[in-house]
This record gives sequence, C-alpha cells and structure tokens, in this order.
Amino acid sequence: MCGIVGAVSQRNIVPILIEGLKRLEYRGYDSCGVAVHQAGGLRRARSTSRVAELDAQVAQEEVQGGTGIAHTRWATHGAPAVHNAHPHFSHGTGADAFKAKPGRIALVHNGIIENHDELRDELKARGYLFTSQTDTEVIAHLVDSLYDGDLFDAVKRATLRLKGAYAIAVFCRDEPHRVVGAREGSPLVLGVGVQSGENFLASDAMALAGVTDQIIYLEEGDVVDLQLGKYWIEARDASNGNAERFVRVERPVRTVHAHTGAAELGPYRHYMQKEIFEQPRAISDTLDGVVSITPELFGDGAYKVFKDVEQVLILACGTSYYSGSTAKYWLESIAGIPTNVEIASEYRYRDSVPNPKTLVVTISQSGETADTLAALKHARSLGMPHTLTICNVATSAMVRECELAYITRAGVEIGVASTKAFTTQLAGLFLLTLALAQVRGRLNEAQEAEHLKAMRHLPVALQSVLALEPQVIGWAEAFARKENALFLGRGLHYPIALEGALKLKEISYIHAEAYPAGELKHGPLALVTSEMPVVTVAPNDTLLEKLKSNIQEVRARGGQLYVFADADTRIESSEGVHVIRMPEHYGALSPILHVVPLQLLAYHTACARGTDVDKPRNLAKSVTVE
Ligand code: F6R
Repeated sequence: MCGIVGAVSQRNIVPILIEGLKRLEYRGYDSCGVAVHQAGGLRRARSTSRVAELDAQVAQEEVQGGTGIAHTRWATHGAPAVHNAHPHFSHGTGADAFKAKPGRIALVHNGIIENHDELRDELKARGYLFTSQTDTEVIAHLVDSLYDGDLFDAVKRATLRLKGAYAIAVFCRDEPHRVVGAREGSPLVLGVGVQSGENFLASDAMALAGVTDQIIYLEEGDVVDLQLGKYWIEARDASNGNAERFVRVERPVRTVHAHTGAAELGPYRHYMQKEIFEQPRAISDTLDGVVSITPELFGDGAYKVFKDVEQVLILACGTSYYSGSTAKYWLESIAGIPTNVEIASEYRYRDSVPNPKTLVVTISQSGETADTLAALKHARSLGMPHTLTICNVATSAMVRECELAYITRAGVEIGVASTKAFTTQLAGLFLLTLALAQVRGRLNEAQEAEHLKAMRHLPVALQSVLALEPQVIGWAEAFARKENALFLGRGLHYPIALEGALKLKEISYIHAEAYPAGELKHGPLALVTSEMPVVTVAPNDTLLEKLKSNIQEVRARGGQLYVFADADTRIESSEGVHVIRMPEHYGALSPILHVVPLQLLAYHTACARGTDVDKPRNLAKSVTVE
C-alpha cells in the first residue's frame, strides 16, 4: 500500500528516494512520484507506471535536489491517475494566481482524511485551486494556508484540523533544507543519517535499508522537524486538557537491521511461485531454535500471562484471519482453552463483552495492518491487557504494541497473495497451542516430543506436497476456463477451504466461495452444475466418512469434483471425480500441508488466465488504511 520516503541532505537525494520506493514497491501501488527542492522552487515527476519508469523520467527531466519527498500511492480517493499521484503541491490562490505562481508546499500522505470534504469547501472558499480528487491535496493547501515562515509550526497547526489517519512528509519552497513529518494512525519512522548531517523519513525502516540503520519509530501524534544535522520531535501535550499545545519529546534511536526487501526471482516466474516453494525453508527457519515447548518462546513473562488467562481472542484480517480460524480448532481441542476469532475490522466497531483474563492474539504478516492494530488497541481499551502477536516483521508496530510475540521467519513476502506467511503463522500458532496446553497441564512429555517430531518433519513433508505441482497444473488448465468455483472442507480444514477460495479469487479473478461441506445441502448445493468445479480438501480424519457423503451429493447433481485426498482415504478418481493424492496424512498439522496444493492451483490458474499474479488488480500488500 502507500509508501513514503523523504530526505534532507547535501547530496542529490533523488536516487535514494527512488531506491526507497523500490524497496516498498512489493506492497502494491498504482502510481508513484517524487518532488525535490530545485533551483529555488518545487520540481516533481509523477507516473502511473512502475517506479523504474519514474526513475527514467527523473533522469530524463533532470529532477534533482538535496531535499525531497517521494511516494507510492494505492488509490482511495480518486482514480489511479497522474493528477492524483503524490506529491501534491499547494496551488496559489485561484487559477490565475496558480498559473502565475507555482505552489510553495509539497506533500505526500498515507492514510485517509475523514473531514476532507469540509476542509476542501473551506479552502476553496479561500481561493485554493484543487487539481485532484484526493484527500491529500487538502492537507497541502491547509499547510499552505497556515504557513507564516515556519513550516514546522504550520504542520503542527494543520494536524489539529485533521480527522482520520495520516502519515505525511512535507517541504516548502521557502525553506530549502527542511522536511517536516507527522503521524496519527499510519506509521512513520525517522532515519538518522550517518553522513554529512542528512536525515530521512519513511513509512517503513525497510525503505532506508542500506542508507541508515539508526531508526526512531514516531508515535501517534508526533510531528518531526528534519534539518541538516538535527531533528526535533514534538507531540501534543494532553496534560492539563490542553491538546492544542505541543511539547518536545525524546524518542529512542534503535539500531534496526531492516532487510533490504530485494529478493531475486531465481528460477521462478513470479514471486508467488517462489514463495510457495520457499515454504519448507520458511517453516524450518520459523522453528529454528525451538528445542522444547516453553511459554518463554513468546517472550519473558509469558508463563505468568499464560497461567492467568482463561480464554483466547484472535484478531486478524484476510489470510491471517484464516490462520487464526484454523488455530481455534487446535486451541480448543489440544489446549482446551475457549477461543474466539474475529475479523479485526468488525471487532473494533462492535459491542462485545470483555473478559480481562483473555489473551488477545493478533496475527499479521506485515505487522502494520491498520484494522488489526486498531482492533488490538480497542481490545486493550476494553480492559484486556494481555496481548501477543504472531508476526513476520520484528520491527513492526504490531510487535512493538504487544506484550508478547512470536516472530515467524518467512522472510520478505513480495507476492500480494500471502502464502509462506500463512503456513509459518500456522507453525507459530501450533507452538502457542502447545505452550498453553503445557501450562494448563494438558501436554505431557511424550505428547510434547511427538508434536515436536511432527513439526520438525514438516519441511520434508512440504517438499513431497510441492512435488505435486505438475498434477495441479493439469487441473489449472480446466479451472482457467471457469468463472465460478466452490471449495469444501470440514473441521480443521474448513478454514483451509476458505483460504483456497481467497487465493483463487485474489489472483485469477474467478469467483470462489468456500463452505463447510456439511452446509452444502443448506443452500450452496443449488449452485452445483456440470459447469461448477468443486474443490474438496479430504484429509483422513474423523470427518472423512461425512465428507465422502458430501462428495456424493455433488456428484449426484453432475458437479465436477477436484479432491485433494490423503493417501489412505480410498477416494478414487472416477467419472467427474478428479483426485490428487497427498503424500501422507499429517494429523493435527495437516492444514499446513493441505493448503499448499490450493496455493498452487490458484497460482497456475492465474498464470493460465494471464493475470498480474504478484500484483493483482485493486490489491495492496500492506493494508495501512481502514
Ligand atoms: C491475502 C492477503 C491478505 C492479508 C491481509 C492481512 O492473500 O495477503 O488477505 O492476509 O491483508 O494482512 P497482514 O497479515 O499483513 O495483517
């Protein structure tokens, strides 16, 4: 989703800004832009193409300067178009004045300004000219309208008028060596430069990898002033009820070894394919160092927390929600702890009944998902202090916000459709289940040893599942010609069916729905015709016989069945029943294996349809707006 990079330096900063955008590129965007202070004025280049195109454009147009800001945009207000791309400039007063006098404020923004209509009306009445449909342009004009020779002061005053979520970076024509940033609800970091007094801003430390590892995570309400050789942070002073006054604050400088984000494709056609095939390595890394089950795997003090809690509340979005939904089965059956799983964007706005003895678990690949972060804060505000996250980014807001954490080691996930993050989340959630079971006296040494053995064997088992790719490709050809698909699963594998359907719709744009197989005759069976492929996840578990009956119900209506069956299920291929046999049955951990052929099916179907697999339309990798 949207990305920000900003800098104050004595050297030409454009290559660093562009490189920063490239590092954030995998998150998904539909336009990009850069602006610098050049020859006493504002210069910018914007594009609805890739960052590489923007790079060529700035070189050709000789856009260069020591102070600048850059942005990748994921459209919320206004279509993906050059005139809506950031940076936005303030535009004089009225069309004629604009022609005669280019604006003096340049600004980029992540987030959504909720009162933009009201502010736009007010600024229009004062003569400001709007050239985009964005909420962002409103902030540029607002800062301009409050500017009286001190950009830091103007931005502080502007933030008092903004409602919604924002991270912004701003500079002004009249102050050549200054960039001001502010955040509320969207992440922003300050990078303390290591050479010649330069300083940086970014929406993620990863954008600054290779430039500086000295990072300050700005907090909600912070406004930061960046100049050559110095920076200054202020925050709203809530004491004495005076929220309009700002006071100086100190934030710790952390050494952050942000990964570079640059990943080679190697022999793969797409990052998604590469990431599917990386899963044995990702699981192995995630379990590295786990020699025994102990609550301390989740952080100091975990034992006390685990001993204290009576229930688990899982909060997440999308694919991460499905890993949480799978974990509910484990947590209730193995650890015997009541568990609720909630979609973060729903939970944060509904009335619920809090229990202070709840372990609130957030699950997030990026650790920056706005809804999940807000749901976490909401849960805490309801009086549930115990929080734990399963997250793939150690430096993310989610990890910083939670009391306890388990960091999955999937590595950078570039494909928008999540794959290796999902299976590593499941590995982390299984460890959590075992740790809670242990503390609750439901895990003896023999059971612990057995589970650990099964977990350690996962990378090998995953390799055998990946070897099914040629068979899946055969099915994908047929799927590519369909416009609808049904996915069925039962029990532990119902969330896997949901995840399979999500993968297929995200990247192939085929309409796919998932149901618990037992629900079929309560409605969705009406959809089944010979044109409807029905994908079934059939592990050899206690629900197998029931699932076989559901398969018959589909066959009797002429539906085409595509079954991923465990080796010992005795489900055979026949007229209208296509079977791919999974190498081995894997007990409680079976979802980690069964999701893989569904990822491959979605991937190869999308390839056969020629979609942009790694950057599917309308989607972003890191969803930092509500
Ligand atoms: C789907 C997908 C999304 C994310 C969701 C949550 O393939 O990737 O559904 O799972 O946006 O993102 P995180 O896990 O970063 O909180």
